[in-house]
Amino acid sequence: MMKHTTTILGIAGSLRWASYNRAALRAAQQLVPKDAVVESFELDGIPGFNQDDEAHPPAKVVELKTRVRAADAILLVTPEYNYSIPRVLKNALDWASRPYGDKAWNGKPVAVMGASVGMLGTARAQYHLRQVFVFLNMYPLNQPEVMIAHAAERFDAAGNLLDAHAQDLIRQLLRNLVAWSRFLRQGPGGSV
Ligand SMILES: Cc1cc2nc3c(=O)[nH]c(=O)nc-3n(C[C@H](O)[C@H](O)[C@H](O)COP(=O)(O)O)c2cc1C
Repeated sequence: MMKHTTTILGIAGSLRWASYNRAALRAAQQLVPKDAVVESFELDGIPGFNQDDEAHPPAKVVELKTRVRAADAILLVTPEYNYSIPRVLKNALDWASRPYGDKAWNGKPVAVMGASVGMLGTARAQYHLRQVFVFLNMYPLNQPEVMIAHAAERFDAAGNLLDAHAQDLIRQLLRNLVAWSRFLRQGPGGSV
């Protein structure tokens, strides 16, 4: 039987043109196993969440919710801002979690990675993100933890990820995410 191609929706939590996290997501698109694809959703243009608008969200939020629902799994690539998740990423998670009872994230397998110029490579932001998954009812992959520290030394000026160890971890993360989403769809030994 033909194996189902796993569609992973990648979202990087930075709007910055030369963002290391957007670059890490592009690297993931290259490193994904053959039986999967990593798509990318850019967060620019999503306004700050206002609960007054949750019943009639902006078109970009409607698109985000549609893309999340269509994906087999989610890959969040988070920067670390002041030891936590950047506003643009939390804002997107919040928008697509509303209105109450209509959260697009519900039941989705999710993997996390992140790059920072600091020495802990977004560790603190990633653990905050994992806390948020509890109420979103997402199913996080535990390992590997992909924390790209000292990012300025790991990417070239064009945003190519040069670090072989980080590349290996991303490859493993995506392999595990494909297996995890297959497991959740089918149970152990599932063939789709
Ligand atoms: C508001 C702000 C807060 C930051 N806080 C942290 C931090 O807590 N830990 C850290 O390692 N780097 C921190 N940084 C540095 C980021 O790692 C760096 O700006 C990184 O390039 C952001 O990700 P990006 O390249 O994907 O935009 C912070 C940067 C900004 C702008």
